Amino acid sequence: MRSPSVLRLLILSVPLLIVGCGGSDSAPTSSQTPPDAVRRDVEQSIASLNEMRESLAATIDTSAVDRRTFKRVCAPVGKRARQLGADRGWEVQQLATKYRNPAHEPDAEARRLHEEFVTSPELTERWIRTTRSGHEGWRYARRITVQPSCLACHGPKDERPAFVKKDYPEDRAYGFEDGDLRGIYAVFVPDTSTGDAF
Ligand code: HEC
Repeated sequence: MRSPSVLRLLILSVPLLIVGCGGSDSAPTSSQTPPDAVRRDVEQSIASLNEMRESLAATIDTSAVDRRTFKRVCAPVGKRARQLGADRGWEVQQLATKYRNPAHEPDAEARRLHEEFVTSPELTERWIRTTRSGHEGWRYARRITVQPSCLACHGPKDERPAFVKKDYPEDRAYGFEDGDLRGIYAVFVPDTSTGDAF
């Protein structure tokens, strides 16, 4: 008499398991996003970081791209990202599987998020609940899209500026085309940084 009921239980739990797995893969639910004030703060801060790079890149003279030009494009973005993290108690990163600076290689979780942007071209941002270095919190990821103005430094391998070829021997961040996924902004927001929002 025992085995039929065990079997029935197994059969009954199959759809539940399927629903359970599907749930974790689908779009984020409200329980996976932080309180509204925090969510807006993160999303707006990263949107303006992204706008900053796009407007800086649009001003460069592509015929003379050198270290000084770089100082006006991706360098200030990295600086602003670090400053933002320090101000708010977040970890603000720019990560890419095809990185230029090896410090921007994604961790395992960021790699999975990056993969979601590869497989879902319509996805622009994503929140997950996670634990990082023993701290509970949220992680936000936003797509970084290649613009024509990025190609002066992230276009064909042979056309990269001399300073890039020299300073980044491990460079993988070339060969992109307009509209490609360049990488992601990844922000870890520990619960300890959101105290005021509750
Ligand atoms: C003037 C050259 C130049 C232009 C133009 C440029 N970049 Fe970069 N980019 C660089 C360099 C150099 C780095 C490495 C920065 C570092 O050492 O942290 C970099 C790094 C990055 C990174 C960090 C991840 C990594 O690969 O290290 C991202 C993301 C990025 N660029 C995206 C863009 C986008 C998007 C555009 C266009 C809107 C753009 N870049 C335009 C030179 C440039």
